[in-house]
Amino acid sequence: MSTETPAEIDRVLLSEEQLKQRVSEMAAQVNADYAGEDLLLVGVLKGAMMIMADLSRELDGSVEIDWMAVSSYGAGNTSSGVVRILKDLDTNLDGRHVLIVEDVLDSGLTLRWLVRSLQARQPASLEILTLLRKPEAVRNKVDVRYVGFDIENDFVVGYGMDHNQHYRNLRYIGALKPL
Ligand code: IMP
Ligand code: MG
Repeated sequence: MSTETPAEIDRVLLSEEQLKQRVSEMAAQVNADYAGEDLLLVGVLKGAMMIMADLSRELDGSVEIDWMAVSSYGAGNTSSGVVRILKDLDTNLDGRHVLIVEDVLDSGLTLRWLVRSLQARQPASLEILTLLRKPEAVRNKVDVRYVGFDIENDFVVGYGMDHNQHYRNLRYIGALKPL
C-alpha cells in the first residue's frame, strides 16, 4: 500500500504516533474522572468514528457506546448553525453519565445545540470530549471538558474527518490545500 500523502493534502498536522499518545492521555483522564461510574459515550457520526474506537479501547471496564448523526453544514465548509438530527440515540439518557465524543469543534454551533438538546433528556452529567478544537470555538467559549489538540483555522482531514466523504481512513490528520 502507498504511504505517500495524497496530492490534496498540504501537510501532516498530527502523526499517527502523536494521535495515539494524546488519545491515551485523554483516556487516562476519563478513567480517573469516571472511576466506578457507569459511562455512556455518545459519538457524533461520522467524524468521531476513529477517536471513539481508539479512546473507548483504552477505557477501564465496560462502557456503553451510542451514536447520533446530525447535519450542521449546508453546502461548503462553513457551519450554517442549523442542526438537524439525522439519527437519534437508541439510549435513554435519564440519570446517565454521558460523555459526548467529537472529532473537531469549529464554530462550536453543532455542539452547543447538541448539548442543549441532550441536557433536556435529564442525564446525571453531560460533558464533552473533542479531539480537535479550532480558534472560533475558543472565542465562542464552548464549554469542553477534554480537548486533544488546539489547532489553527485549517480545514483538516483524516482519522475520521472528511472532505466530501474522502480521507476518513487516513491514519494521520492532514491539512487540506487551500481550495
Ligand atoms: P461546528 O458546528 O462549526 O463546530 O462544526 C462541527 C462539525 O463540522 C465537526 O464536528 C466536523 O464534523 C465538521 N468540521 C468542522 N471543521 C472540520 C474540518 O476541518 N474538517 C472536517 N470536518 C470539519
Ligand atoms: Mg463531528
